Amino acid sequence: MISLETPLLSMEDAQAAARPLRDTRPKLSVQDVSKWFRTRRDTVQALDSVSLDVNDGEFVCLVGPSGCGKSTLLNLIAGLDRADQGHIVADGQEVTEPGPDRLVMFQESALFPWLDVLGNVTFGLGRKHNLPKAARHDVAMSYLRLVGLERFAHANVHELSGGMRQRVALARSLAPNPRMLLMDEPFAALDAMTREQLYGDLQSICQARKKTVVFVTHNVREAVCLGDRVVLFSPHPGRVREQFTIDLPRPRDINAVELAAHASEITAALRRHAQPRAAEEVA
Ligand SMILES: Nc1ncnc2c1ncn2[C@@H]1O[C@H](COP(=O)(O)OP(=O)(O)OP(=O)(O)O)[C@@H](O)[C@H]1O
Ligand SMILES: [Mg+2]
Repeated sequence: MISLETPLLSMEDAQAAARPLRDTRPKLSVQDVSKWFRTRRDTVQALDSVSLDVNDGEFVCLVGPSGCGKSTLLNLIAGLDRADQGHIVADGQEVTEPGPDRLVMFQESALFPWLDVLGNVTFGLGRKHNLPKAARHDVAMSYLRLVGLERFAHANVHELSGGMRQRVALARSLAPNPRMLLMDEPFAALDAMTREQLYGDLQSICQARKKTVVFVTHNVREAVCLGDRVVLFSPHPGRVREQFTIDLPRPRDINAVELAAHASEITAALRRHAQPRAAEEVA
C-alpha cells in the first residue's frame, strides 16, 4: 500500500516533470489536418488528414506532384489560412495567425515593388527588431552579399530578373533570423550554379543558427541534398504517403554520388504513388 509519505516520483522523474514541456514537444505539429477549397463550380479537397511532426532544428522537405497540397499546407503552417479540420501547433501554441518566427518564402518572390532591393530586405528587420537604422542597413547588406546582390542594393525590383528577385526574397526571409523558415520552391527559378551555391549557404545558415525548415520542392535531388527528412505527398486529395530519413553528413553537395541512392528510392516511391487509385484497387 502507498502511504501518503511515499514519494510517488523519484528525484529524476520530478526533475523531468519540471522541465518545460516545450523541450519534449516537436517544434511544429500538424495534427490530422484537412482542407477543402470551395469555388463557384466545385469543391476540391486539398489536404486529407495530414499529420506531421517537425523537431526543433530539423530540415524537412515536402515532395509531391503538382496539386498535392504542399503550398496549401505551408500557408496553414504560416497562419495565412485556416484548416477545416485538425490543428497546427508551433512551439506549443495553436497557429491562428502569421507570426514573426514563422516566415514564408513563396513560390513567387512577392517583393514590394515600391521599395528598392535594400528596402525589401530591411523591411522585415524593421518590424521584428528595434534595430537602429545603421545596424539594419548592415544586416540587410550582409544578406544581400550572401545571395550575391550587394551591387543591386539600390535597384528597383522591376529591373531584376526572376532569379534575382528570388534571391532578394531569400535574403529578406533570412535577415530577421526567424527560428522557423517555410520555403515554397524558393530555388525553382534559379540557374543551376546559383542554386548550388545557395544549397551550401542555406545548409550552413540552418546548421549554425539551428533553424527549423519546412521546404517544398518538386526536385527530389534537391530534397535529398537539403533535408534531414523527405516527406512524400500524393494528390487528390493531398496525403502523406511515405517519409524518408536522409542521414548523410553535411554539408552535402547536390552532385555527390551518395545522394543518388536516396534520390532513386524516393523517385521510385513517387512513381508508385502517382497512380494511387490503381495501387489501391490492387491492394
Ligand atoms: N485558393 C484556392 N481556391 C481553390 N482551389 C485551390 C486554391 N488553392 C489551392 N487550390 C487547390 O488545392 C489543391 C492543392 O493546391 P496547392 O497549391 O496546395 O498544390 P501544390 O502541391 O502546391 O502544387 P504545385 O506543386 O503546383 O505548386 C489543388 O487542386 C488546387 O487547385
Ligand atoms: Mg505549390
